Amino acid sequence: MTDWKIVDDDESLSRLAASLFLDAVDENPSIRLGLPTGSTPIGMYDEIVRLFGSGNHSLGRVRTFNLDEYVGIRRDDPGSYFTYMRQHLFDRVDISSAAAHVPCGDPKMLAEIHAAPFEEALKLECNRYERLIEDHGGIDLIFLGLGSNSHIAFNEPGTPFDSRTHVVTLRAPTIAANARFFPTGVVPSRAITMGIGTILAARRIVLLASGTRKRKAINALRLREISEDVPASALHSHSDVLVICDRNAAGQDPA
Ligand code: GLP
Repeated sequence: MTDWKIVDDDESLSRLAASLFLDAVDENPSIRLGLPTGSTPIGMYDEIVRLFGSGNHSLGRVRTFNLDEYVGIRRDDPGSYFTYMRQHLFDRVDISSAAAHVPCGDPKMLAEIHAAPFEEALKLECNRYERLIEDHGGIDLIFLGLGSNSHIAFNEPGTPFDSRTHVVTLRAPTIAANARFFPTGVVPSRAITMGIGTILAARRIVLLASGTRKRKAINALRLREISEDVPASALHSHSDVLVICDRNAAGQDPA
C-alpha cells in the first residue's frame, strides 16, 4: 500500500525524512538501511547530522547499503556516490566504515577485489553486492529519490521489476541531470544499481521527491498504473511504501 504525505517544501520534507530515519534507528539500533544520493536527500542527511549532534542518537550499529554507484571512476572521485556519502553522512556521524556499503565501480579496486577482466569483475561485483544484502538478512528500510523520468536508484524506464543488482547504461537525460556533480563535464555513462526487485525486497520503502522537476514523475505515480515504463510505479506492488513530496512536486501551490 502506498501512503502519501505532502509537505510544504523541501525543508519540511528533509525534517520529516530525518525523523523517520532516526525513529527507525532508535527503535532498532542495528537496522539495515538502504540509502539514496542525489540532491533531494542532502537536506535529510544534514538534518540527521544536526539531530545526531544532540547526543541522543547513535548510528554505531546500523548497516547501510547504498542504492547505486557510477562505473569507471575512482571511489574517491569527487563525483562518486562513495564520496557523496562520506561528505553528507558517513564522515559526520558514528556509522562504522565497515558497516557502510556502496557498490564498487572503481576499475582499480574491482580488479583487486575480483581478479578478473573489467566487464567480468563488474558482473561479479553486482553478484557480490546482492549476496551481501542477503547475507545481512535484507534491508529493513530503504529511502529512495526519484528521477525526473521516474527512475528509482538507476533503474531506467523499461527495467524489469524483478531485476536484481546490475550494470546499467544511463539514458541521456539522466546523464544530463547528473552533470552538475561533475564540474569537469565528463559524466560517467554507466552505473551499478540495485535492481527494482532488490528494492521491492526491502521491508519498508520511503520515496522522497521535491521540486517542480519531479511533478511529471509524481503525477505518473499518482495514476496508480503499474508499468515498466514508469519504474517508480513498481512501488504500488509493495505493502509498505510512504511517498513524501513537497507541494511543488505534488503540483499544489503553497498555501
Ligand atoms: C540519480 C540517482 C537517483 C536519484 C536521482 C534523482 O539518478 N541515482 O538515486 O533519485 O538521481 O536525483 P535528485 O534528487 O538530484 O533529483
